[in-house]
Amino acid sequence: MKVIRKVDELREYSIEQRSKGKTVGFVPTMGFLHEGHVSLITRASLECDIVITSLFVNPTQFAPHEDFDSYPRDFEHDYNLAKNADCDVLFAPARGEMYPEGATTSLSVGDLAYVFEGKYRPHFFDGVATVVSKLFSAALPNKAFFGQKDYQQTLVVKALSRDMLMGVEIVVCPIVRETSGLAMSSRNKYLTDEEKSKAKILFQSLVATKEFIESSERNRKKINAFMHEYLRKLEILKIDYALAADAYNLSEPSEFEEGMDVVLLLGTILGKTRLIDNMVVKIPVSNYNEDERFQAGLK
Ligand code: PAJ
Repeated sequence: MKVIRKVDELREYSIEQRSKGKTVGFVPTMGFLHEGHVSLITRASLECDIVITSLFVNPTQFAPHEDFDSYPRDFEHDYNLAKNADCDVLFAPARGEMYPEGATTSLSVGDLAYVFEGKYRPHFFDGVATVVSKLFSAALPNKAFFGQKDYQQTLVVKALSRDMLMGVEIVVCPIVRETSGLAMSSRNKYLTDEEKSKAKILFQSLVATKEFIESSERNRKKINAFMHEYLRKLEILKIDYALAADAYNLSEPSEFEEGMDVVLLLGTILGKTRLIDNMVVKIPVSNYNEDERFQAGLK
């Protein structure tokens, strides 16, 4: 596995690979890799000839009071995990490579950046869109792989690629969880053992809400109330948002329709750690009665 630190070198490498007819897959990360990241690299290596993984803790997606300085970093650990997962190139640029001196240009995502997660981290999605756009310009991928773990981020990068005519296919990969159900995250390192065991309530609340919906509840406010009630069992958990929305555009109709995909989104704080999670649930299609089945030609 090659390590590249310069944007120009990465771009040249990618152009060379693509000119040989190879497809380039790209996995952007902020490092401190875990099995969630590894699953993206593995998927990229199955779907593409060449895999580039980036390690860059992006300053513009952190607010001044957030954890940019303390965000965990461990190059050797990341190198070994990426290498074992069949990554071809690890791109690890210095800050000045990604934000050259005097850089003032940034991207603005629009409304999607200021709802749900964006309401609590208003700088976040513009920072993500800006750095992902720069990373795409450096890596020139055919496909880029993102985790469903950061659900709203996947919608933002899909919109980015579409709106800025980047032509990069965005592939969304499933959430990798600990055996307790806790979604893996570099920030789980901040949790104490006790907090870690309590944090599984996020996943449990999603599973319980899924069952609540599948028992034929379609009213959005009732679903949201159910999630809140469940999570309130853990008194020390601060709930920023716990809600259901249309999985495609995050709209919030009062009743969800049959067959519709709904995303359950959680943004919480446990102790000092921000924890997010989500689950996509299909609203069940109610059973036809015998007459309707006959008329629909199902009998
Ligand atoms: P980071 O938090 O390092 O995550 C990198 C990628 O790994 C994201 O696409 C994220 O959704 C995915 N990921 C994280 N935990 C996962 C899990 N448990 N299961 C599956 N995928 C998981 O997201 C970022 O970095 C940054 O915002 C970035 C896109 C790199 C821009 O700076």
